[in-house]
Amino acid sequence: MKFFIDTANLDQIREAQALGILDGVTTNPSLMAKEGITGADNIINHYKAICEIVDGDVSAEVISTDFEGMVKEGEALAALNPQIVVKLPMIKDGVKACKYFADKGIKTNVTLVFSAGQALLAAKAGATYVSPFIGRLDDISTDGLNLIAEIRTIYDNYLFETEILAASVRHTMHIIDCAKLGADVMTGPLSAIEGLLKHPLTDIGLAKFLADYQKGN
Ligand code: E4P
Repeated sequence: MKFFIDTANLDQIREAQALGILDGVTTNPSLMAKEGITGADNIINHYKAICEIVDGDVSAEVISTDFEGMVKEGEALAALNPQIVVKLPMIKDGVKACKYFADKGIKTNVTLVFSAGQALLAAKAGATYVSPFIGRLDDISTDGLNLIAEIRTIYDNYLFETEILAASVRHTMHIIDCAKLGADVMTGPLSAIEGLLKHPLTDIGLAKFLADYQKGN
């Protein structure tokens, strides 16, 4: 399972990269705004900075909602660095743009996916990644994990190569459950990733080992 970090915060990206488990980064306009990154030039420079920190894929989201605009924006983003994955919304023109980029060999991430039907369309359009938002489904009392399971079944039935990128991951159990269900990738906050490290028995055991070592020295 690939681990992406879902943030535009450079310190957090560096920290996850330093842990040695990071496979990529996802961003979105809200995450950029949260870091105070506004204006086209600053946003472009921020993507470049992220690509310098990580080795893997970096999703960069288009703002346009029409086909021509998405193609223009996506081509400019993809030209920044081979690591850039053009992130497209799951709307009609987003599907068309996905097919356009797939035919050109440019990687895509179809975002804001909330149903199996949307995921099927993204795969048909040749998406590199499809991003089902499990946390936002949970927020409205709908089982986000069930969507991951449905997409896994559909993609396996037809051997679609589109990778299931479980997004809107909020906590460690989301990561574990997505791994059990066979999601190819998860993207989540640093807190959820680091949460996997923690177990009280590890802390108790380590404290005992260190105390016993001290006794003998
Ligand atoms: C995915 O690519 C999105 O950036 C993200 O996972 C959305 O998560 P949220 O629902 O916590 O905002």
